[in-house]
Amino acid sequence: ELSRKNKIYEINREAALFYYKNLLKKNSPGLAYLKQRGLEESVIRRFGLGYAENHWETLNTYLIRKGYDQEFICSAGLVLEKKTKDGFYDRFRNRVIFPIINTTGNVVGFGGRALDDSLPKYLNSPETSVFHKGNNLFGLNLAKKEIGKDRKIIVVEGYMDVISLYQHGIRNVVASLGTALTKPQGEMLKRYSDEIIIAYDADAAGQKATLRGLDILNELGCKVKVIRLTEAKDPDEFVRRKGKDAFLEEVERALPFLDYKIILAKMENDVRTTEGRIQFVKAVAALLKQIKSPVEVDAYIKKIALESQISEEAIKREIFGNHMYDP
Ligand code: GTP
Ligand code: MN
Ligand code: MN
Ligand code: MN
Ligand code: MN
Repeated sequence: ELSRKNKIYEINREAALFYYKNLLKKNSPGLAYLKQRGLEESVIRRFGLGYAENHWETLNTYLIRKGYDQEFICSAGLVLEKKTKDGFYDRFRNRVIFPIINTTGNVVGFGGRALDDSLPKYLNSPETSVFHKGNNLFGLNLAKKEIGKDRKIIVVEGYMDVISLYQHGIRNVVASLGTALTKPQGEMLKRYSDEIIIAYDADAAGQKATLRGLDILNELGCKVKVIRLTEAKDPDEFVRRKGKDAFLEEVERALPFLDYKIILAKMENDVRTTEGRIQFVKAVAALLKQIKSPVEVDAYIKKIALESQISEEAIKREIFGNHMYDP
């Protein structure tokens, strides 16, 4: 079992090197694509990015020539057998390749991005004996060295967000890879940091994933904050347009868990109407019920009373129930 896994790591490493060499060839469409997206060659090398050429069987032929077993090559997820059973073909074709490397430095899988609008935009390795999507964080192999004394880590959605922030000197960044954050990912984050800042995309999918991620991290007992991007669709676009300092300001201004939830509750309810104010306060009261610190609860009650024009007394009763105040 272990030797089997090691074999797959070895094949993955060979494949990563193969893709990397392809990327750096003359007139590589992959390199042109990454340059057009603003990436510098040093960063491309740092992440070991690659290019899968637009052919059906170059990787397979290469790996077979290197002496690897067809069965192992297939179980690494890099090559598939044709339906007709009379041959094999490469999974990744005409895509920029992002190797996913774990904290021990093994290549566990790959993401491949189309060079144009063809779908799927990203194709990932399938689940293999060394790759379980929800158990990896892209970039953690590099970010773990950059966590720093404040032990903050930023979580973004995509490969390009991590790499683009890295190029701008913000290096304590990992990506949860599209799917909302999973519990195992949360546990990894907790191991490496004391404060987690979610910086997902500004669209509806990103907001939904933010909520899920917040709840998962909160349940794990992590200190977690949220960046709400408004001037760009994702961190990559933001940092390219506005620069490092502007992004670091967003990090400084990141909203604590409760503040973010309160903002959402306020957006969901029209506090200009009586019904809206009632629903808003009820939603916040339900959140405050779960807070253990009395000081924290008191501070938020004052804030909510102001925003809703409902008395602190009534909000307290809503949170704690009437009995607390009955003699
Ligand atoms: P760019 O368009 O290259 O900037 O990518 P992006 O990272 O901004 O894309 P998006 O916000 O749509 O997706 C975030 C992450 O989700 C990507 O980096 C991928 O890891 C993943 N993802 C996006 N689209 C797909 C897809 O079609 N299939 C799969 N499996 N994953 C995807
Ligand atoms: Mn060729
Ligand atoms: Mn997105
Ligand atoms: Mn995005
Ligand atoms: Mn993007």
